[in-house]
Amino acid sequence: MAISFNETNKVFKLDAGASTYAFMIEPNGYVAHLYYGPEVASDAFAYLYRPMERAFSPAAPGTTAPESRDVILQEFGTNGVGDFHAPSIIVRQGNGHTVTDFKYRSHQIRKGKPALPGLPATFGSDDDVDTLELSLYDEASDVEILLRYSAFRKYNAIARSVQVVNHSAETVHLEKIASAALDFADGLLDLIHLPGAWARERSVERHPVNHSRTVLESVRGLSSHQQNPFFALATPETTERNGEIFGAALLYSGNFAAEIELDQFNQLRAQIGINERTFEWTLAPGESFTAPEVLLVYSRDGIGGMSRTFHDMFRNHLIRSYWKDLKRPILVNNWEATYFDFDAKKLLSIARDAADLGIEMLVLDDGWFGRRNDDRSSLGDWFVNEEKLDGGLGKLVKEVNQLGLKFGLWFEPEMISRESELFRAHPDWCLHVPGRGASEGRNQLVLDMSRPEVVDYLYETICKVLDSANIEYIKWDANRHLTEVGSAVMPADRQKEVSHRYVLGMYELHERLLKRYPKLLIEGCSGGGGRFDAGMLYYVPQIWTSDDTDAIERLKIQYGTSLVYPCSTMGAHISDCPNHQTGRINPFATRGYVALSGTFGYELDLNKMNDEERAEIRKQVAAYHKYNHLVAQGDLYRLTDPFNPGTVVVIWEHAAKDGSEALVTMVQPRNVPNGQLFRVRLCGLDPAGVYKEEKSGVCYTGEMLMNAGLNVPRYERDGAGELFHFVRI
Ligand code: DGJ
Repeated sequence: MAISFNETNKVFKLDAGASTYAFMIEPNGYVAHLYYGPEVASDAFAYLYRPMERAFSPAAPGTTAPESRDVILQEFGTNGVGDFHAPSIIVRQGNGHTVTDFKYRSHQIRKGKPALPGLPATFGSDDDVDTLELSLYDEASDVEILLRYSAFRKYNAIARSVQVVNHSAETVHLEKIASAALDFADGLLDLIHLPGAWARERSVERHPVNHSRTVLESVRGLSSHQQNPFFALATPETTERNGEIFGAALLYSGNFAAEIELDQFNQLRAQIGINERTFEWTLAPGESFTAPEVLLVYSRDGIGGMSRTFHDMFRNHLIRSYWKDLKRPILVNNWEATYFDFDAKKLLSIARDAADLGIEMLVLDDGWFGRRNDDRSSLGDWFVNEEKLDGGLGKLVKEVNQLGLKFGLWFEPEMISRESELFRAHPDWCLHVPGRGASEGRNQLVLDMSRPEVVDYLYETICKVLDSANIEYIKWDANRHLTEVGSAVMPADRQKEVSHRYVLGMYELHERLLKRYPKLLIEGCSGGGGRFDAGMLYYVPQIWTSDDTDAIERLKIQYGTSLVYPCSTMGAHISDCPNHQTGRINPFATRGYVALSGTFGYELDLNKMNDEERAEIRKQVAAYHKYNHLVAQGDLYRLTDPFNPGTVVVIWEHAAKDGSEALVTMVQPRNVPNGQLFRVRLCGLDPAGVYKEEKSGVCYTGEMLMNAGLNVPRYERDGAGELFHFVRI
């Protein structure tokens, strides 16, 4: 077992890979956090418990001043008994008060890890993971919280989740519930997080924490482009390659908040969970609420080490899809090729070129249904537009299949156009607040996914389409954020449940579709990468990373995304130039080097390619088949940082886990005349191995490549790039 409890000193010790996490039951019954960091064999951590008298720090009833909750590091923040940090839980009781005072009640340690009802969760066998369930109890309210810790044996990873149970005879209201709180004794850390925008998702920001409460959040209904449900805390000296870092990724796709608060003693509380701004949950007597899971990762091998653990955890213990370890078909998506202006003839002529070039799937994007010729109508009317697709999907898909290609289709299940049959039939099915207008985004409204009949309608309609033809992939889009989040069927005092119920309804729809079509490949999407989160990866093995397909912009977007999410999950396509988002012109080959680092495809009109471009596509297709195993299953090393203004060439390495080969891509975003000369050290190789670089035929020892490094070529133009393949001989 990787989890132990010492009856004598009352210390719980969790060993996850090469990391250890420890806390204790205090003599007064509270649970104090003691340690999180590199592995320690002994469990004698109680010496770290530090009661200390402080002026102005009140003692909770029955405790002494030195044990004030103001001072003691805790496993879960209390509310109203002297812990002045942001609370981890707020329960409004029948008497209107929100004070709670949770103390240890019991615990259970067992092998394996339970699933979370209706929510995404990491999984593992009895040999992979052990789980501690810690029961804390507040006597006055008769409410219990169950803190669950699952320590993965092979990885520096601990999954945490929380369940709240109302044992009392009265209804209580949950106003806030964090999924995990982490108190740090030495809080002078750097906060790293991933803010962004549409077409500029997941930039990397890093700054020292200060004596204030920083909140990273989404209140947009979806996890959002603007902030990702992730944060990391690193020691100031931590770099990409070295040093300590603690990462937390929330497995949730709706409104979240991460709070990071450095206190008066330089102790720090970090917590993450559902955003309290848009949340409340009614718990009738006997009812319980389960908060989403958070995955904690510890690394002493820098930011890169943290990323590689997240990647391994997500690939092995979160993504369930049939496709998770399979090579994904190379696709061509018609969106940037045709936008709404297509018919079966045009699609088939793209498919014919695709087949000739070795592309494996045609994806028909937005505009195939209802009367949708622009973005003003038809969302919700998921039946084929026969004016565009004469003979329907059955005929088109058959012809595409006959060319040897698979077929994929775009949906935006959660949305509804005012101008649609669905809206005319069910005007109250959209989120809205009576007596107010409904804000529109991209001319559309949002369906009330908290209503079972809406989920049923979508399930049945989507099944009908999927059953009508051999559709092997769907792109699941969501092109606006949620406003006027009200449900026509929820009572007044439960309207604040709707944001979370929306996410549960969306997850349920995924679950039902996957159950019925277990081999269906689903690509998540939200106006590009607006719902790229660990929660979605439980349902879909890949997500469209951004609507910005410019290779140079993608260097940053994919870098930021890769801090947490594996390359096997990142949709990356080669698109036309001048690029539709930036107007930039990048070499065709470079667009390929960048897209090879994700799930690979094309987003352009293949009919317009000249001979040179067609030849390049053939090369790229061959490169995908040759190298994808390294990208999808290998270890990622980010050798230079595109966010650093001093970076001249952006360099990525994908190394085989056994060190037998590595793919290195170099891209120079902007030419600097007579610029720097520098070397780069590779990683993850066998120091004693001899590696041959395929193109040049030059041999190096692994030690040379990792210690002495390689001379980075000087490229002479904007957007130039190159690919190197090292194979141990
Ligand atoms: C946003 C997506 O990110 C695009 O790729 C495309 O599918 C459009 N929506 C279609 O409306």
